[in-house]
Amino acid sequence: MTHPKSFGSDNHAGMHPAVLHAITDANAGDAVAYGADAWTEEATARLREIFGADEAFLVLNGSGANVLGLSLLLRRHEAVICAESAHINTDECGAPEQLVGTKLLTVPSPDGKITPELIAEKLSGRGDDHRSQPGVVALTQSTELGTCYTLAELRKISDFCHASDLRLYLDGARLANAAASLDCSLAELAECADALSFGATKNGAMGAEALIVMRPSLTADAPYLRKQMLQLTSKLRFVATQLNALLHDDLWRANATHANAMAQLLAEGAKAVPGIEIVHPVQANAVFARLHPRHIAALQQDWTFHIWDEEANVVRWMTSFNTTEADVSAFLDAIRTTAPA
Ligand SMILES: Cc1ncc(COP(=O)(O)O)c(C=O)c1O
Repeated sequence: MTHPKSFGSDNHAGMHPAVLHAITDANAGDAVAYGADAWTEEATARLREIFGADEAFLVLNGSGANVLGLSLLLRRHEAVICAESAHINTDECGAPEQLVGTKLLTVPSPDGKITPELIAEKLSGRGDDHRSQPGVVALTQSTELGTCYTLAELRKISDFCHASDLRLYLDGARLANAAASLDCSLAELAECADALSFGATKNGAMGAEALIVMRPSLTADAPYLRKQMLQLTSKLRFVATQLNALLHDDLWRANATHANAMAQLLAEGAKAVPGIEIVHPVQANAVFARLHPRHIAALQQDWTFHIWDEEANVVRWMTSFNTTEADVSAFLDAIRTTAPA
């Protein structure tokens, strides 16, 4: 039987109890729909303050936040430069292309991060009316490969973007993990961006994300585009209350710090097992490891996780706010006992 604890994704975790309570609390009585309620007012005010943002728009999922964010930043002939591994490129069923009508100009990036040099390589077609014109750079923080941009790296990219007339978008589905890892504020991470998403779902919410708009000039269109992109839900108070629960006393940071620590523990234990190689720095809540294919197959008999790269025998193990030391310890025992002789 498969072990009940999954290392497949932070999305496999349920809700944090505080989120569940907050949803129940918000269920008392009626409230006006579509965001004209006290919970939404509280969440958006807090997000504006925490991020130093012009406005915050609550949405249902991370792909929706990304599509809405990109739609605010792009003109119709413009393209987005991003890493090949970016979620917008690999896991959104072409939503940015289909719904925003943009083109993604991808750059290879072994660690999930892109640099000014990689961005510059995509600018050669500028001024040529046969080519999509790069308008936005999209980064993911923390990245799909479990790494984090440092604040210095973000500043460098942001300076390059400003000097090159490019807007900057951050996919922050795991921004909390990056802030915990870098021991910095959300505002420090957001400073570089014109717009960004802030993910709560992977941090203990049931389903709640926010699109944070940093530049006042971008805010006016956002309510209309959120509705057009089907991201304005009528009972918005239940999204807002989840964010309020995670923002209260910085629960988001405690959850992310814990998830990151569990990933460290797992990586430390796994790398001591002969035949296992940790292939990316573990800077958030994901561990990428290379294992013998027989080892992967044996481990998957009882444990849930993704094979990330079948050819390279690389797997992804993810931790979350509710991963315990005992879970990691049991998983490490299984890793040791299933290792091929
Ligand atoms: C980097 C990243 N961005 C965005 C998302 C949002 O996905 P969803 O639309 O499923 O909430 C995810 C989810 O896995 C992700 O890993």
